[in-house]
Amino acid sequence: MDRYLVFGHPVRHSKSPFIHTLFARQTQQELEYGLAEPAVDEFAQDLRTFFDQGGKGCNVTVPFKEQAFTLVDCLSPRAKRAGAVNTIKLTDDGVLLGDNTDGAGLVADLKSHGVTLADSRILLLGAGGAARGALAPLLAELPSELVIANRTHTKAQQLAAEFCDLGPVTAQTYEQLAGLFDLVINSTSASLQGELPPLAPALIHTDIAIYDMMYGASDTAFISWAKQHGARQTMDGLGMLVEQAAEAFTVWRGIRPGTKQVLRELKRNLGVI
Ligand code: ATR
Repeated sequence: MDRYLVFGHPVRHSKSPFIHTLFARQTQQELEYGLAEPAVDEFAQDLRTFFDQGGKGCNVTVPFKEQAFTLVDCLSPRAKRAGAVNTIKLTDDGVLLGDNTDGAGLVADLKSHGVTLADSRILLLGAGGAARGALAPLLAELPSELVIANRTHTKAQQLAAEFCDLGPVTAQTYEQLAGLFDLVINSTSASLQGELPPLAPALIHTDIAIYDMMYGASDTAFISWAKQHGARQTMDGLGMLVEQAAEAFTVWRGIRPGTKQVLRELKRNLGVI
């Protein structure tokens, strides 16, 4: 049977096996999908061994995405832009192809929530790996403006400079932010520590859409905060998780699974509904 897995550390709580097993059942593909948690300095060796032993493809998550970028034979354009690899496929020619489906997953999830990206004013919080992966797919949707704000402003400036060939992207400090944004995407890891990015409450209004790439059984700190200040449309990153997985499954198997039912089952599994 074709073998796939996700590399990460820690990875025990990953929902990827659950999601891909449902995709496989739905599309009647015969495959098994497992977990691998190598020591941080053993990822390269374990990745090689997995493919030497017949593995067909894998996902890569924290903290190995940047390292995976250096270990594959060939990169898709979107992985090159993201500077990170979350999906690897062994091609029929024996080439290890590195791809990145995170940004496509974000955009697909935003669209499935009915968020309009074309001509919109987007605020992206954070300038780490998650922000980098999101920029090209977001700019491809032709927003009127995309502003990056980050605690360490120089990192936001660097990212804006790197992506300004793709669209109207600029960097501003949290203090400089003003005006009406249509969508705020939180790509910071602040919610992981129960912290908040230092965003002025005045930026939140009833028609704004709020997206937190993090998720949990209950609202993230950022989503709770946005709701308190009047945001009516809030979304967490669970849908992005399922959509990026669907994109990876499509890369591997050439068949696109449906995501709605799988997202519902995942929510049930997590006790969210
Ligand atoms: P990831 O790969 O998940 O993006 P990362 O590359 O470590 O992780 O980036 C984390 C991002 O969250 C950074 O933009 C970080 O800001 P700094 O560049 O200033 O470190 C941001 N971040 C983390 N904790 C934060 C907090 N409490 N408030 C605001 N931003 C925070």
